[in-house]
Amino acid sequence: MTRPQFEKHVLLTLGAVLTLTLSSVTGIATLATEMDKPQRCQLERTYKMVGYNCANLGLKQIPQTLKSNLQIFDLSFNRIRDLTRQSFARYSDVQYLYLFENMVQFVEPGTFSVMTNLEAIDLSSNALTTIPPELFQMPLLRNLYVAHNNLAFSDANPLQLELPVRAPLQIISLADCRLNRLPDFGILPDLWLLNISSNPMADLAVEQFAPLCNLRKLDMNDTRVEQCTCQEITVQLEQRRVMVLNSNLHCLPMYSSERKSCTSESSNDVNETKLSSPLSQPFLQCIEVLQSRKLNAKAKAAWFWIALAVLGCILLFCSVLYYVHNRNSKSRKALKNQANKRGQMSNGQPIHRIMEPSPDRETRAEDEKPIVENGTRDKLIENCD
Ligand SMILES: *[C@@H]1O[C@H](CO)[C@@H](O)[C@H](O)[C@H]1NC(C)=O
Ligand SMILES: *[C@@H]1O[C@H](CO)[C@@H](O)[C@H](O)[C@H]1NC(C)=O
Repeated sequence: MTRPQFEKHVLLTLGAVLTLTLSSVTGIATLATEMDKPQRCQLERTYKMVGYNCANLGLKQIPQTLKSNLQIFDLSFNRIRDLTRQSFARYSDVQYLYLFENMVQFVEPGTFSVMTNLEAIDLSSNALTTIPPELFQMPLLRNLYVAHNNLAFSDANPLQLELPVRAPLQIISLADCRLNRLPDFGILPDLWLLNISSNPMADLAVEQFAPLCNLRKLDMNDTRVEQCTCQEITVQLEQRRVMVLNSNLHCLPMYSSERKSCTSESSNDVNETKLSSPLSQPFLQCIEVLQSRKLNAKAKAAWFWIALAVLGCILLFCSVLYYVHNRNSKSRKALKNQANKRGQMSNGQPIHRIMEPSPDRETRAEDEKPIVENGTRDKLIENCD
């Protein structure tokens, strides 16, 4: 290995280690053992995730003897060429899959279909000629890295995508893929970072960014986009508050004179409206998706509070009911007791029950006596004396 190669190698490995967010201790251990190439994948727990570091083992196939509940799978820097339906059939829990720096050229349809938990996949630096279309239908896939492949989509070789894309893609990197145009992804309301740097992009057009209404950062450094188009894109995206990374001086925002020459070049009204209004149909559709999601979230929140309020009312009602019931039964008991006592007094004997004479019974009995005439009371007082 030459020195720069080795350095790149170490740097990239360090990157992989960092992406696995390993502790510095295991990081050093990995680097140290790299010299004598450990022949087995290393089990690594990161936070509460199970991960396998299989980087740089000269693998030609996906190992099939690892714990099947692994969530982070690092297979970078190997010599894997083909991926089949069997490759990941055991590993349906994988959330982060690193396959960069391999020789992947063939991906059998259905290879990733069991990996329904996949959130990020890095297929950079392989020999792919297309992006496996099923990745765009993965229900949780957020980050898709396909940089440094030979994609070269064309009319003859389009990206065969089923639209709309189901994956909630937030980051797509297509850097250095020999692309002349941006593939049509349809509406991607979650996408905020698009990296198309180091591609020719000769056929790039401003309206291709309309369905990406949530875009925040576009890297088109080192592309050969035609000057007027490049300026249009820069102006329009900056109006949308997208950060456009571009090293080309001719892509700087236009002076009004340049703008005129650009629009007169393209000459027809259609282009003029394209230039002046970023609010084209796909853009509005994308915004609509975002808004309906927000509304849904709001509606869900509203229903939650309504349910909570109803539950609260029911609880309150029940406790009131319970309280009233308790009070009623107490006063009924008290009435019954009174009635019983009255019965006792009238007979001079307990009626049905044997009652312990309680010390305060007399006084209570006195209290409960019907109002006595003054004469008797006087007599009683006299008796006390
Ligand atoms: C885009 O990709 C290139 C090549 O992989 C990388 O150097 C660059 O940092 C990326 N840009 C962004 C904004 O991530
Ligand atoms: C743009 O690309 C060139 C060539 O790939 C690279 O040297 C430069 O650092 C890049 N600039 C930015 C801002 O990414």
